[in-house]
Amino acid sequence: MSLKEQIDLTRLPKHIAVIMDGNGRWAKQQGKNRIFGHTNGVNAVRETSEACAELGVQHLTMYAFSAENWNRPQIEVSALMTLLLKTINGELKTLMKNDIRLGAIGDIDALPKGVAKELREAIEKTSGGKRMELILALSYGGKNEILRAVKQIALQVQKNEIGLHEITEDLISDNLYTAGRPDPELLIRTSGEMRVSNFLLWQLAYAEFYFTDKFWPEFNKEELYKAIIDYQNRERRFGKTSEQIKQ
Ligand code: IPE
Ligand code: IPE
Ligand code: MG
Repeated sequence: MSLKEQIDLTRLPKHIAVIMDGNGRWAKQQGKNRIFGHTNGVNAVRETSEACAELGVQHLTMYAFSAENWNRPQIEVSALMTLLLKTINGELKTLMKNDIRLGAIGDIDALPKGVAKELREAIEKTSGGKRMELILALSYGGKNEILRAVKQIALQVQKNEIGLHEITEDLISDNLYTAGRPDPELLIRTSGEMRVSNFLLWQLAYAEFYFTDKFWPEFNKEELYKAIIDYQNRERRFGKTSEQIKQ
């Protein structure tokens, strides 16, 4: 049986989040510069989103640029921004053809103006996409996202629009960038690193974590299938006992 056939389509995660890591090390391994790794990482993004859409995953969030990544050498940051712009333009038609809508989370205003503009236009143009939402996390930081939500809520309290008793977990979720989407059930991180790097801190509360040693440019449909199969073989207990779950 192929890996794809081993997937139970009735128990797919609705939302998969990916920390795409290892572009630089992959490039170095072949004596190339880091940018070469990022360029090749785009193919893995395409493969992964295609595979998710084909299976019937509803939301796919990809960590493309963290708030901390602004601290990289300027030459790498600008190469990444150029690549982002090129990728948005280059993939727009395919997204529309595949009925995928684009989304973004993070401090989009912090991106170079041209990038932010193209991104917003692509989100608008693909907004009718029904099959899947592909969400790019850009200039994204989980702590900052929570801080922003806290401030938005505090302002509502200050204006007497809501009372303290109305501050609930749902209200916090509604004030995050990810508002309206279910929390990811599965988080994938490539390149052997086992940390969350400030990604979706609130939303990953009960996600299953899957780590692979593959570098991001090596990731493809088969690797995604392996992650989903692994996820489907786990028992998600949510604090209960195994016996309760089996009942
Ligand atoms: C992930 O690959 C891509 C981004 C963070 C933009 P890296 O660039 O982090 O590659 P490594 O981890 O240095 O190998
Ligand atoms: C996390 O990868 C951010 C993205 C994948 C965009 P990093 O390579 O920046 O994370 P650290 O620095 O190793 O934690
Ligand atoms: Mg890295």
